Amino acid sequence: MDKNERIIGGSGIREDEEIETTLRPRWMSDYIGQDKAKNKLNIFIKAAKQRREPIDHILLHGPPGLGKTTLAGIIANEMGVNIKITSGPAIERPSDLASILTNLTTGDVLFIDEIHRINRSVEEVLYPAMEDFALDIIVGKGPSARSLRIDLDHFTLIGATTRAGQLSSPLRDRFGVLLNLEIYNEDSLKTIVKRSAGILDVPIDDFGASEIAKRSRGTPRIANRLLKRVRDYSEVMGDGHVNQEMSKEGLDILEIDELGLDHTDIRIIKTIIENFGGGPVGIDTIAASTGEESITIEDVYEPYLLQIGFLTRTPRGRVLTKKAYEHLGYRYMEK
Ligand SMILES: Nc1ncnc2c1ncn2[C@@H]1O[C@H](COP(=O)(O)OP(=O)(O)OP(=O)(O)O)[C@@H](O)[C@H]1O
Ligand SMILES: [Mg+2]
Repeated sequence: MDKNERIIGGSGIREDEEIETTLRPRWMSDYIGQDKAKNKLNIFIKAAKQRREPIDHILLHGPPGLGKTTLAGIIANEMGVNIKITSGPAIERPSDLASILTNLTTGDVLFIDEIHRINRSVEEVLYPAMEDFALDIIVGKGPSARSLRIDLDHFTLIGATTRAGQLSSPLRDRFGVLLNLEIYNEDSLKTIVKRSAGILDVPIDDFGASEIAKRSRGTPRIANRLLKRVRDYSEVMGDGHVNQEMSKEGLDILEIDELGLDHTDIRIIKTIIENFGGGPVGIDTIAASTGEESITIEDVYEPYLLQIGFLTRTPRGRVLTKKAYEHLGYRYMEK
């Protein structure tokens, strides 16, 4: 398996695409969990609608698969406006962005995924567009070149990023609303699994849903993916009902342990224990000794290991906790 397509990676894989369109919540009321972000958004949406104004620019950040794209779609739906979807790396030149912007009409949402990957020259076009709803273009060449200002309609930019820290501060400052999506708790994931099972017509009981929720690393996209795998398993090995036994067996076969850890997580943990005495060790060193990329470790593995209390960050590097040692059956020695 391609390492980017590992079953518990948070990033989208091809297979997810078709299914995500059917499972993706369309309205705020279908969007489970993330109460803090939802409460704020509900107020902003209501206020903007009352004033009959477009909603302020919004930046969504958080690890992959937590529902940033979904939320952008919901905001547009709730506002009753069109959404145009693109991504940072897809906008190659300033003129590409200019043509997108001039095609937006009042209230439209422009969603830019992976906005931290937007290139510098494109980013500069975005500043006046976000702030003054204007586009400054240069016409002509050489000494006769002059700058022309074009007015844009009052659109809303929604940016999504897994790495808010990589956004330049002038760009970050132009967003009126910054929302941080958090890893989901087990209850919310269980509700998500049950909702998805309902849509996919998969018979499931509470225990089966819990078992999948526990192993989904706090990530709805992973929960949906595991549900599909368990559905396959129970159709072949059982009578199609997803119960605890089917979930457990199906997920064990995928080598996803009861905390949602797969062989790569285990390898990372073992490397830190066996080669670095449990840390502190820098992320680049971990990357070099496991053959993973630093970015992948930071975006995909680390957030969850931090979340479940297996890892802590210190100024001198990452340190494994007693919990991580015990989970893998190593003896922990107090330092
Ligand atoms: N709050 C939620 N309630 C129910 N389902 C959700 C929720 N959030 C996400 N999902 C499900 O998870 C899938 C992945 O969500 P989404 O594509 O929005 O994640 P993302 O944060 O944009 O990920 P990426 O960073 O990879 O772009 C969606 O198709 C949807 O089915
Ligand atoms: Mg997305």
